[in-house]
Amino acid sequence: MNKLYFGSNLKMYKTVADTVAYLRELAQRTADIDRKEVQLFILPSYTALESAAANTDQACIKLGAQNMCWEDQGQFTGEISPVMLEEFGIRFVMIGHSERRHVFGEADTEENKKVRHALKHSFTTLLCIGETAEEKEFGISTEVLRTQLKIGLYGVDVKDAANLWVAYEPVWSIGVNGIPASVDYAESMHYEIKKCLREIFGEAADEIPVLYGGSVNLGNANDLIVQPSVDGLYVGRAAWQAEQFERLIRNAKAAYEEKRKTAD
Ligand code: PGA
Repeated sequence: MNKLYFGSNLKMYKTVADTVAYLRELAQRTADIDRKEVQLFILPSYTALESAAANTDQACIKLGAQNMCWEDQGQFTGEISPVMLEEFGIRFVMIGHSERRHVFGEADTEENKKVRHALKHSFTTLLCIGETAEEKEFGISTEVLRTQLKIGLYGVDVKDAANLWVAYEPVWSIGVNGIPASVDYAESMHYEIKKCLREIFGEAADEIPVLYGGSVNLGNANDLIVQPSVDGLYVGRAAWQAEQFERLIRNAKAAYEEKRKTAD
């Protein structure tokens, strides 16, 4: 994969004004980075999406929603549908973030309904997967990831693989109490994920970017991005200040280019 992916989920942190200011600064700071080489993306809160879209060139920073419902409309109090996202010019959604699964109790079967519906709308669809600390302890990480992929992507047509992204975010590595995965561990899980995607989609799987997330920071980003099965970095806390995120992206890109040069 020639393009590197860098993105951030803003979770429930920034207000509308904060989000717009952040996006403006990030766009400005990264303006010179070739978007053929780097896909930059940000997922603001629902309430900030309209203003974010009105103030952002999505050719430079792709905007997405942090979740959505599996129906266009109906008796789903508190939910947001793809039709509503499209109204704001949003055609990208994340499904199954660890906090959706573990704080709000979403199951793989629900993620599957959402993934299929997002793809039906031709949204870029980012499915997040990851094992808990307990599952890792039991030595079933690969089985868990395979289950999340096989159920989450059940019934997805191979032609829709082009709109699919996957993020590997081990639950134990996410957030303030998270421990970043070692580079070797992350690479081995990414390898298994890519293998499973190939089983599901055949050659079309080679176009699905697999991103690593969970306590990515300035100290580990370079080592992660140079791994053969890591196509991008999905960053939380270390991305929420534009200046810091810019630095992380530039450093990681340089490390990746250096590695390619030595490999040639
Ligand atoms: P973190 O969050 O980088 O703050 O650990 C990652 C995520 O939830 O995507």
